[in-house]
Amino acid sequence: MSVYKSLYDTMPDGREVFVFKIENNNGVYVELLTRGATLNAFVCPDRDGTPGDIIAGFDNLAGHLATTTYSGQIIGQYANRICDGRFTLDGREYQVTKNENGVTCLHGGDEYNSALWKAIIIDDNAVEFSYHSPDGTAGFPGNVDVTVQYVLTDHNELEIHYKAVTDQDTVVNLTNHAYFNLGTTKNGDILGTVLQLNCDAFTPTDARSIPTGEIRPVDGTPFDFRVAKPIGRDIGADDEQLRQCGGYDHNFCINGKAGTLRLAAKAQDEQSGRKLEVWTDLPGVQLYTGNFLNGEAGKGGIALEKHFGFCLETQYYPDTPNQPSFPSCRLKAGETFRSLTVFKV
Ligand code: GLA
Repeated sequence: MSVYKSLYDTMPDGREVFVFKIENNNGVYVELLTRGATLNAFVCPDRDGTPGDIIAGFDNLAGHLATTTYSGQIIGQYANRICDGRFTLDGREYQVTKNENGVTCLHGGDEYNSALWKAIIIDDNAVEFSYHSPDGTAGFPGNVDVTVQYVLTDHNELEIHYKAVTDQDTVVNLTNHAYFNLGTTKNGDILGTVLQLNCDAFTPTDARSIPTGEIRPVDGTPFDFRVAKPIGRDIGADDEQLRQCGGYDHNFCINGKAGTLRLAAKAQDEQSGRKLEVWTDLPGVQLYTGNFLNGEAGKGGIALEKHFGFCLETQYYPDTPNQPSFPSCRLKAGETFRSLTVFKV
């Protein structure tokens, strides 16, 4: 195991951005950036032993700063959407940033993901990122202190340990927004990747991608990934949910008990033989098939076209602060939020 820190680049305002590389004894490695606590690279061998980077992202800071795709970033304080950017806690109404078309709050109004995080090496296979969100930033209550630890094991697991504390009751929903392409972007889109989701239901949305509140069984719908199938098999089905999002961009309800680590998803690229498993203790996972990728130059100058990456964003359900029937994302003052997501290759 080894971990190294080096200077990655400098922000336009002169602040330095660092990169950490953690490598395990199998030659699998990850790169992490202090800007957005970003998962910049995840390199693992294909079936012939040839290493490849399964993160569809960018080669340099300019690419990371220019994109609005949340590529590889840690998202907070509330991942995914909040309807009208508004919610009520204990009778008090909060208005948070409406950064999506001036209508919804998407991904916490870009706070956590665009911050420069502090980072320290905590072990020969682990780096801890920390960020302080002052009370009221992006409209969210509470001084919130967050740490995210990335740990790479010799079982080729990248563990992401999330922790948060607050001095006022607030809402917390943290995720990583990596775009995966198990065949690497050199080999095109992800529609042939075979995906299995341990999810019997999903949360349909309205045209703004806000959940209607319904928990809909996947049975008999294009959202049924209980038996592994290529992501592209049903993506073009005549289904209102798929049409309004240009593909999958939905929260799936993970089977089993939230709070316990369980398998959420398994993906496999038949050509390269690379696999990905996603484990989490959170209630949901957003399957997003890169529907809004629009040709930005990614790694190696390869254009990140529509469907050139898929995301499995582990999370509380979208708009939970306004949906009393969804599992609660409330963090009480003085309590500690902890959560674990594992990406295993
Ligand atoms: C999330 C959302 C998508 C899209 C991407 C970023 O996955 O659910 O609708 O906004 O982030 O492009």
